[in-house]
Amino acid sequence: MLKGRHLIEPNDFSLEELEEIFTLADDIIKQPTKYLDICKGKLLATLFYEPSTRTRFSFEAAMLRLGGQVIGFSEPSSSSVSKGESIADTIRTVGCYSDIAVMRHPKEGAPKLASKYSNIPVINAGDGGHQHPTQTLTDLLTIRSYKKSFSNNVIGLCGDLKFGRTVHSLVKALSRYENIKFVFISPPELKIPSYITEELGNHEFYQTSSLEEAIPELDILYMTRIQRERFFNEEEYLRLKGYYILDHDKLKQAKKDMIILHPLPRVDEINSEIDDDPRSVYFKQARYGMFVRMALIVKLLGGDIDVKN
Ligand code: NCD
Repeated sequence: MLKGRHLIEPNDFSLEELEEIFTLADDIIKQPTKYLDICKGKLLATLFYEPSTRTRFSFEAAMLRLGGQVIGFSEPSSSSVSKGESIADTIRTVGCYSDIAVMRHPKEGAPKLASKYSNIPVINAGDGGHQHPTQTLTDLLTIRSYKKSFSNNVIGLCGDLKFGRTVHSLVKALSRYENIKFVFISPPELKIPSYITEELGNHEFYQTSSLEEAIPELDILYMTRIQRERFFNEEEYLRLKGYYILDHDKLKQAKKDMIILHPLPRVDEINSEIDDDPRSVYFKQARYGMFVRMALIVKLLGGDIDVKN
């Protein structure tokens, strides 16, 4: 039962519960008109303490396409946060006006803290370099629709694996499936944290800084940007940006059915010359993100609304 639950990290939901969300997302994709009014009278609050385009817009689009409405802020300077209000007080207030809340915050653990004080479901839309569970739902739904199963794939994760919360969430979520090999491709300075690899259990994995070497064996390539805002020092960022650029030349070595994912925004790590390659599915992935968030909202609001068959 997902009704009333919070989503702070992907493993808050069982594999069966995730499958329920994906099945509903599939149905929404097939018959969107069936769901036009399902959240009528419901309000989604978006609390964005950090910039966002896709995550915020896709949540807003999701709620509006379900017939619900949206309130919120896209930068804390326009709310009482700028007066020093605590997260606990903000979420208690937001819970008086709305039915479900989405929070993005630069501090790791902020959405979890909010969920402890909240009487409405809280969805983590990214907390610092920690987790980004709804991007993971997006990534999983995309993989599920292009590959036969999550299991038996070699996935390469490339770029900023140190600060990239989408990578941390996705690795955690995928490690619950069978027989996945992880290839962590990053500059030495941006290696995947050991607390993530320690949880990989029996899964095979290796780390490399060479995308060229890794690419031939991959079934899935997950590109990420080097995240300027997470660096303490601009020089270090400038030295590492442009470390990876995926282009026609590098793709020649890849499998014909490899898929390329990217949570977006991209900077220069994917050359736009490959956007039309059938393996480039990152913009389709962004669309899946809206559908999976629609399914998530419906499930968390659960029994309050009638899912007509
Ligand atoms: C990601 C994020 O915010 O962590 N973007 C997103 O939500 N799609 C990745 C990023 O900002 O690089």
